Amino acid sequence: MSIDTTPAPRERIDTTTPALDVRGLKKVYTGHGRDVEAVRNLTFTIRSGELVCIVGPSGAGKTTLLRCISGLLDVTDGEVVLDGKKVTEPPPGMAVVFQEYGRSLFPWLTVRQNIELPLKEKGLKKAERAEKVQTAIDAVGLTDSADAHPWQLSGGMQQRVAIARAVAYEPSVLLMDEPFAAVDAQTRADLEDLVRDLWHKFKVTVLFVTHDIDEAVYLGERVLVLSHRPTVILEDVKITLPDERSQLETRSTKEFADLRHHVYEQIQKAKQGFRPDGDTA
Ligand SMILES: Nc1ncnc2c1ncn2[C@@H]1O[C@H](COP(=O)(O)OP(=O)(O)O)[C@@H](O)[C@H]1O
Ligand SMILES: [Mg+2]
Repeated sequence: MSIDTTPAPRERIDTTTPALDVRGLKKVYTGHGRDVEAVRNLTFTIRSGELVCIVGPSGAGKTTLLRCISGLLDVTDGEVVLDGKKVTEPPPGMAVVFQEYGRSLFPWLTVRQNIELPLKEKGLKKAERAEKVQTAIDAVGLTDSADAHPWQLSGGMQQRVAIARAVAYEPSVLLMDEPFAAVDAQTRADLEDLVRDLWHKFKVTVLFVTHDIDEAVYLGERVLVLSHRPTVILEDVKITLPDERSQLETRSTKEFADLRHHVYEQIQKAKQGFRPDGDTA
């Protein structure tokens, strides 16, 4: 199998600088009379410009991990370092796209205004804001809906707005938490390709979380497989598929099937409670 072969690094991106360093991360929820250890000991590095997927079963602690990384949740132990700085609150260089796009957009603002808002908070001048907003709107294919309100758009289009808003912000790291879980299969395929397009175009570092194995393999350069809760990393799988991906061609190659098979096996092990640390949950 080809999963151990390192892919040729993409030329125009510096893949040596760590953008995000997660070290010994642990999160225990306390309160209500009982403690829940969601994440036990997570350590991984994402280099600048990489597109890394994290895949793990439902309840594995994926959202908890992203909330810790984005500074929305205090960690119990360990640390998160973004661009060399320890994260203690939501860092300015990070943008997050959540699963519930409906709740993340402001209904009283138009598409354009929703995308512009974080740029205002960033302190950009009006002309610069307008230009970045327009570029992002065009990039996600919403040129004709720029002045519509979110409630006038389909779920898939609303998620495009959320993605455009995150990209326009030009974050050094873009976090995505199961962003396509609530859209139909066809839209989902389009949005997956959109993420890879935007990643190529804007050279942003992406951490994409999903429970969907096919999606993780199709999108990522690397797939981190999470164990069952309390979560540790089971495996860091290199995705050796060509950089140019296509829903039709890539997904029907033997290499894709092999990778999918391999990750699937790991997830099955995770569900059965296998842990590399030998502990029981
Ligand atoms: N606020 C909370 N308080 C207590 N337990 C929580 C809280 N949020 C999540 N959990 C628990 O932590 C575990 C991981 O949850 P989560 O991070 O949402 O997993 P995933 O996103 O992988 O489905 C689950 O057992 C969940 O019930
Ligand atoms: Mg989740």
